[in-house]
Amino acid sequence: MKKILVLHGPNLNLLGEREPGIYGSLSLKGINNLLEEEAAQLDVTLTCEQSNSEGELIDALHRAQIGQNGVVFNPAGYTHTSVALRDAIAAIQIPVVEVHLSNIHSRESFRHTSLTAGACAGMLCGFGWKSYLYGLHAIVELLEERIV
Ligand code: DQA
Repeated sequence: MKKILVLHGPNLNLLGEREPGIYGSLSLKGINNLLEEEAAQLDVTLTCEQSNSEGELIDALHRAQIGQNGVVFNPAGYTHTSVALRDAIAAIQIPVVEVHLSNIHSRESFRHTSLTAGACAGMLCGFGWKSYLYGLHAIVELLEERIV
């Protein structure tokens, strides 16, 4: 059975109470529960982690190489600032799909650039919590080589 890591970046622990008009009313736990349900349907094993720290996210990506087949990653604010996270994504041998709840291209100009997306297999944004859902489907299809 394929193993997928869902990795959430900084401030996403506050989902549900944090700017709900932009990020929705579901908590992080609520999103993880919905993803667990979908994972069961897709016959994959899910591990969900969140960190507010750049170094811990880098360590989580390095660890994912041992035992995980792919990663669905929301780097949150580090998307726009972190060369180190981009390098970590590029360094590991498993595919990473970047996801964002909001459409980063329709927001402030500093959010229009993702430093991390270029090292990822692909990026989804703007579909609320369903960006994660579609990201999960994308990584599974990628691993099953159903995406060329
Ligand atoms: C985010 C978008 C980022 O610009 C922001 O810093 C976040 C969340 C999203 O999921 O929409 O923290 O990654």
